[in-house]
Amino acid sequence: SRSISLAVIPGDGIGQEVVAEGLKVLSAVLPQDVKLETKEYSLGAKRWHETGETLPDAELEQLKAHDAILLGAVGDPSVPSGVLERGLLLKLRFAFDHHVNLRPSRLFPGVKGPLAGEPDIDFVVVREGTEGPYVGNGGSLRTGTPQEVATEVSLNTAFGIERVVRDAYARAQARPRRKLTLVHKNNVLVHAGHLWKNIFDRVGEEYPEVATDYLHVDAATIFFVTQPERFDVIVTDNLFGDILTDLAAAVTGGIGLAASGNINPGGEFPSMFEPVHGSAPDIAGQGKADPTATVLSVGMLLRHLGYTAEAERIEAAVAADLAERSAARSTSEIGDALAARVAG
Ligand code: NAD
Ligand code: IPM
Ligand code: MN
Repeated sequence: SRSISLAVIPGDGIGQEVVAEGLKVLSAVLPQDVKLETKEYSLGAKRWHETGETLPDAELEQLKAHDAILLGAVGDPSVPSGVLERGLLLKLRFAFDHHVNLRPSRLFPGVKGPLAGEPDIDFVVVREGTEGPYVGNGGSLRTGTPQEVATEVSLNTAFGIERVVRDAYARAQARPRRKLTLVHKNNVLVHAGHLWKNIFDRVGEEYPEVATDYLHVDAATIFFVTQPERFDVIVTDNLFGDILTDLAAAVTGGIGLAASGNINPGGEFPSMFEPVHGSAPDIAGQGKADPTATVLSVGMLLRHLGYTAEAERIEAAVAADLAERSAARSTSEIGDALAARVAG
């Protein structure tokens, strides 16, 4: 019989609230014969205050043994900025080689976005997940003086770029529109930018059916708002991808709907699924967080593990719920409604 061993890291703030709803929907959608085993890891601000630990090696080792990881969000105003983000979330992405950070954006029918008309938005950002300015390659000199200097050097390897670019081409090839856009800033960041563009062009020769495009990241933000229909698959570096996907969420009905997967395509390590949003301290503990992004992330998780029919049921449930949303509902009311739809 089938089974799923799932690691759950609710984390901080609304992470706790939205993960509870994600698990509710997961239990509701799985058929009887699938044995779901979840193990919760208490990581985040509370743990750090109590023990000073972010992600001890022993737990990293335990996490490795699961089929997948579901994460809520990390980060809390009571912890210095970066401690949990780097020490927990980025540590997981790097340790488990999550080099494909998949962030789909779709304007669901009936969802009122901020853009005029009803633009046909359905694209996926393939964000590089293990390199760029995120690697921690920097430092500061003369700290605390008026002469302080800080560097944050972006790391880009041909190996790292090529593997994520290849993944993006394969995804573009498999979609009906077969279009891939590289987003970078090679008019200024000439070292990294040209390496990305050269590899993008070279790999593209193997995909004659995929139409390609290049945009500087600043111009890309214009088109996300004025012509979002033009995008199908986008490939970009770690930091550009971070920023673009919050914008993508905003134009498709809000950050409460945006799902993501941190994928280790080879399957050597567990992939990790999480909403794009953070711990939202401004609304935490009030039952105001929209759990839909987490529920859709559970859908991505199921698709990744081969539970295609169940993933489709989740997507259909979200689509149906979004089409009818009107009055404001609490986090658990939305979770209940989605759980009822996937079960029924
Ligand atoms: P955020 O995404 O937490 O919040 C931005 C805004 O969006 C806030 O107004 C928040 O209330 C709103 N929002 C977010 N999720 C929502 C939801 N599900 N439903 C309704 N509204 C929602 O970003 P931030 O404020 O920049 O960061 C807060 C903390 O989260 C920081 O510590 C940051 O480092 C961390 N963070 C973590 C992750 C992650 O764990 N993947 C992602 C982003 C930010
Ligand atoms: C995200 C977040 C993270 C990122 C932070 C919290 C490290 O903003 O998942 O989008 O920048 O990748
Ligand atoms: Mn982000």
